[in-house]
Amino acid sequence: MLDIQKIRKDFPVLGREVYGKPLIYLDNAATTQKPDTVIRSLVDYYENYNSNVHRGVHKLSMESTERFEEAREKVACFINSKSSNSIIWTRNATEAINLVANTWAQEHVKSGDEIVLTAMEHHSNLVPWQKVAKDKQALLKYIPLTADGRLDLTNIDDIICSRTKLVSIVHVSNSLGTINPVEELTAKARKVGASVLVDAAQSVPHMPVDVQQIDPDFLTISGHKMLGPTGIGALYAKEDILESMEPFLRGGEMVLEVTYEDASWNSLPMRFEAGTPNIADAVGMGAAVDYLSAIGMKSIRQHEVDITSYALDAIKAINGLDHYGPDDMSQRGGVISFNSPGVHPHDLGTFLDRLGIAVRTGHHCTMPLMRMLGVPATTRASFYLYNTKSEVDVLIDGLTEALGYFNDGSR
Ligand SMILES: Cc1ncc(COP(=O)(O)O)c(C=O)c1O
Repeated sequence: MLDIQKIRKDFPVLGREVYGKPLIYLDNAATTQKPDTVIRSLVDYYENYNSNVHRGVHKLSMESTERFEEAREKVACFINSKSSNSIIWTRNATEAINLVANTWAQEHVKSGDEIVLTAMEHHSNLVPWQKVAKDKQALLKYIPLTADGRLDLTNIDDIICSRTKLVSIVHVSNSLGTINPVEELTAKARKVGASVLVDAAQSVPHMPVDVQQIDPDFLTISGHKMLGPTGIGALYAKEDILESMEPFLRGGEMVLEVTYEDASWNSLPMRFEAGTPNIADAVGMGAAVDYLSAIGMKSIRQHEVDITSYALDAIKAINGLDHYGPDDMSQRGGVISFNSPGVHPHDLGTFLDRLGIAVRTGHHCTMPLMRMLGVPATTRASFYLYNTKSEVDVLIDGLTEALGYFNDGSR
């Protein structure tokens, strides 16, 4: 059991009020709040050892290099990567996916190849592959969904087949909350010789994720969704695959030897980190990993299961509210999207905002999924380790009040 009240004290912003009401922050799938250890790690970096990494012989540079590389090591351990050389710093999960699309895919995807995605992908794991498919005359195929928002694997052996070059799938859907069977799909991809990318932006922050167990070639991580700063993320890739890949961006740091005519590449991981990296935020992401590890990912997942099932039961009991995604909590993360026919999600979100409740409304960067569901948008509540059941109660009261207000025939 987590001591939520103690945890909440670590997050300064959770103490603030919005329109005179205590803030209830339920927009964690968009970005998470930051504990003071993360905030202080950033201030500490700039106040005490701000300096460029890997270049200097002076004390500050050695200190920043050490802390920067320590943070990489922490991320590697957090996802059970065999080596920290497998961790490439990026700006976010989106950049990590683009890195693979612009390097590995450019070399390996050929005309007639197939790239398998799911019908619930975030635009980040969709738009880069559309470009690869157009560039290479490859085909995008989508694993369809069941009525309750799970992957429909009925015809999976026709979808993942001998023509498949890459299976690139979201681990936990930011719109539906669905937890996908990434281990099973990775094994299927392996059988036909395809490579695998797992978009773990919504799983690594919320549950134990073990890259040796899932065994993908690539896995992408977002720092700001796991209590870390914005502007930092990571690509995990198997070391031998990274060794064989061409660099993404070219310039300083990523080279070994440069002449006027040519250049050779630095060793891993620097080969994929051209220019001065985002040192402070990488250190901040390391502090976020420390914070999450100290609490324990199993306990965080259990807390989210408790609070989400509590919220789901209450949402199901509200008349006229549709919800999306599976009801079985073993297949759902801490995300609930819902809709009331006749009430626009933006109106609902604005009403809740006036009660101090921050939820997200819109297409959640999954426009094709919204189109498939036949809605322009949904309202989404997403939970994290600092949310409480009494916050869910306020959300439910707010929703009931809002639906009464908007559905009142006199209005
Ligand atoms: C499932 C999923 N993938 C990728 C991303 C992109 O993450 P980032 O903001 O780190 O680029 C998001 C962000 O919402 C997401 O929810």
